[in-house]
Parts: sequence; structure tokens; C-alpha cells
Amino acid sequence: MSEVAVLQLMGLCVVGTGILILLFLKAVFVRVLGFVIIMLGIFTLIALGVPQMASLPPAVETFDIASVKTPDDLASIGQKIFFSKGQCALCHSIGPSESARCPELAGIGAKLAPEFIYESLTQPQAYVYLDFRHDGLPEEYPARMPHINKNPIALSEQEIYSVIAFLQKMSGEPISIKVEDVLNIDVGEMKVASLVGHGGN
Ligand code: HEC
Repeated sequence: MSEVAVLQLMGLCVVGTGILILLFLKAVFVRVLGFVIIMLGIFTLIALGVPQMASLPPAVETFDIASVKTPDDLASIGQKIFFSKGQCALCHSIGPSESARCPELAGIGAKLAPEFIYESLTQPQAYVYLDFRHDGLPEEYPARMPHINKNPIALSEQEIYSVIAFLQKMSGEPISIKVEDVLNIDVGEMKVASLVGHGGN
């Protein structure tokens, strides 16, 4: 029996006790007490009747290697990461959006080679141009794109590749990330070239 059901049963017992008191005892004080008990019991039952909803933080997405068979599986994991752990959707939209603060990513998987996307995610400073709009030496614009592979987002290599697979898929591009390669990633010792050498761009 669920916890709520047990409590409901106890509430019913309390109400029952109150009714018994009203039925069989004559002393006024005890009857008032019986009435109060019935009321308390009914309120408890009503409160317990309200649907219980626990508000837990969203479940942490993990990369479930066992479930990945096809590039599409990879892309669907990438999609989940894009909208949750990767926090990409906080800044980027897919398609035009009034609220997006950053480059929208529709078609990005077709525009950019996977190597370049990988670099955008892990070395965001690499292609951000210099700022000449002041006297003296040009300065670097600080990249506002976070390092996706470092804290606080800290996606694993496998997660990054599934996000890239998702970006390719949603751009209508064949997914050039190969499942075997992603599954074989020796954590910490990834070679981009070996993964992205085939198909696509
Ligand atoms: C804090 C906001 C923020 C988050 C979170 C973020 N980005 Fe970005 N991203 C940016 C900004 C801003 C740029 C533009 C370059 C710059 O200023 O650093 C960018 C650039 C990019 C680019 C290069 C676009 C181009 O046209 O060259 C890609 C690809 C990209 N982001 C993908 C992602 C993905 C995938 C994620 C999630 C794993 C992500 N971003 C999370 C802000 C963000």
C-alpha cells in the first residue's frame, strides 16, 4: 500500500472514531470533541486527496552507450543533451527566435564541418575575431560561448559527438559521426580526425 493510502486509512479511522463518539456518548464535552475529530479527519482526507507532485530537479542525462545502435540513436541522445545537460538551448535557438542571444543553429550541421563544430564547442575563442574598434592594439573579443568540455557544462567526448550528430541531423545532413568510433572513444584520448574523416563535409 502506498504511503498516501496508509495515511488516508488513518484519516478514515479518525473520522470513524468521531462518528462512534457522536453515536454512543452523551456527555456534551466528549461530543464536541467527537465533532472536532470528524472535522479534522475530513480535512486530512481532503488534503490527502490532492494529487501529490514531487518537484524534483530534472534527471541527469547520461550517455547510455548500450542503447546506441545507429547514427540516429546518437543524434537523439545529442538532442537530449542539447536541451538539457549541454545547456545549448539557453543561448542558441534552432531557427529564428526573438529571445535567442546567440547565433541560431538552424542548418549549422550543413554549414560547418564536424571538425569546425567540434572546435567551436571546445575552443570557443579560436574563431572569434579581434576587436579593432578602439585605439591601440586590437584586443580579443572574449568568446561568450562556454568551453563545452570544461566545467560547469563539462560534456564528455561522447556527449559532444552526439551533439554534433544531432546538429547534422537537424540540418538535414547525413550524420558523418560514426557510432563505432564514438563507442570506442578511449575517454581522454580522442583524436578528432579519426572520427570525422568520413562522409559529410
Ligand atoms: C552561454 C551561452 C552559450 C551556450 C550555453 C552555448 N553557446 Fe554556442 N555560442 C555562443 C556564442 C555567444 C557564440 C558565438 C561565438 C562567441 O561569441 O563565442 C556561439 C557559437 C557557437 C557555434 C559556432 C556558430 C558559428 O556559426 O560559427 C556553435 C556550433 C555552437 N555555439 C554550438 C553550441 C552547442 C552545441 C552548445 C551546447 C553544447 C552551445 N553552443 C552552448 C553562446 C553559447
